[in-house]
Amino acid sequence: MPDLNPSEILLSADQIQKRVTELAREIRGDFPGDLHLIAVLKGAFIFLSDLLRNMDGHVSLDFMAVSSYAKSTTSSGQVRLLKDLDTSLDGRNVIIVEDIVDTGLTLTYLQDILRARNPKSLRTACLLSKPSRRKVDVQVEYIGFSIDDRFVVGYGLDYAEQYRNLPHIAVLEP
Ligand code: IMP
Ligand code: MG
Repeated sequence: MPDLNPSEILLSADQIQKRVTELAREIRGDFPGDLHLIAVLKGAFIFLSDLLRNMDGHVSLDFMAVSSYAKSTTSSGQVRLLKDLDTSLDGRNVIIVEDIVDTGLTLTYLQDILRARNPKSLRTACLLSKPSRRKVDVQVEYIGFSIDDRFVVGYGLDYAEQYRNLPHIAVLEP
């Protein structure tokens, strides 16, 4: 078990729900027709499910998995594709749904490989962003909250596979 404990609540469950509802409306306003959401496993699965339930009409989804942080809180800078999509993106309006953009390396990698699959449009939605940590200038059209450089868990985000089940987002401190 991890030897760190989540301390301060950074974002309450209510704050998150309110912002995710706004993001869903904004995305749906920009893409009112056919829309395809691609969530990055595992961290984005709760964000995806709340986004999706706040969208009406024709919305489909798929999942990808990439390796990022093993059991550490710093990025290795290495990205590896662990699970690919089940369906084609050809001619579709696609939104990548990610939990957090930190250095930006993971998203840059994902955007590059998905753009090569000929979607009609490709945009990215991240619940959280740590702008001070960016190593590459990656474009993220929809951001839930910008936060300081602190390691956070909960609402799908983990440390060593723990704490995904917290309904809020908490700071993990040694
Ligand atoms: P990036 O490639 O450095 O942007 O890292 C993005 C990935 O690192 C995210 O999808 C998360 O899985 C993980 N990550 C970055 N910061 C945090 C954090 O504060 N808590 C939990 N996971 C994080
Ligand atoms: Mg992730």
